[in-house]
Amino acid sequence: MWFVQHDFMSPGYDELVSLRTAELRIPLGLEFTADQLEQESDQFHFGLHLPDWHLVGCLSFRHLEGQSLAMRQVAVSKDFQGRGIGRILVECAERWAKQHGFGRIELHARKTARPFYSKLEYHVAGDEYTELGIAHINMYKELV
Ligand SMILES: CC(C)(COP(=O)(O)OP(=O)(O)OC[C@H]1O[C@@H](n2cnc3c(N)ncnc32)[C@H](O)[C@@H]1OP(=O)(O)O)[C@@H](O)C(=O)NCCC(=O)NCCS
Repeated sequence: MWFVQHDFMSPGYDELVSLRTAELRIPLGLEFTADQLEQESDQFHFGLHLPDWHLVGCLSFRHLEGQSLAMRQVAVSKDFQGRGIGRILVECAERWAKQHGFGRIELHARKTARPFYSKLEYHVAGDEYTELGIAHINMYKELV
């Protein structure tokens, strides 16, 4: 399996956006707007690929401040969910973050994905709230 960083607006990035659209937006009746994608120009974008380069998972990091990153747009392709791909994806991303000097990851977890992040040792911070019309909760992990 290959964990690959893709440049903003590269063909690889376009493929990540397609996966995110299918798994994160279409189920909510939404699409990404050009403005939303433009805000990702200074973020770090990653894909998890099978040996034949088929894309099975993706996520992005946004630098918050100091040594903190926001993990966003975490998605595994429908046919590959529940097979350990999400765990590999997040663990690879954590390794990348540590190697680049970051010490903390924060995220807005969908309520449905909270057990997944709990398994990966992310902690809850605060109460549930609504974002994109669905329940979310803030979670974080210190990378030590
Ligand atoms: C959430 C998501 C990224 C998880 O990826 P995945 O490949 O399905 O998860 P994995 O198979 O790697 O699961 C890792 C562990 O979490 C557990 N887990 C995953 N989803 C779970 C759930 N909804 N409820 C309970 N446990 C869950 C698995 O059982 C597994 O536990 P184990 O290691 O003890 O066997 C994926 O299902 C997905 O893309 N869902 C749709 C989009 C989404 O909700 N993204 C998150 C936005 S915040």
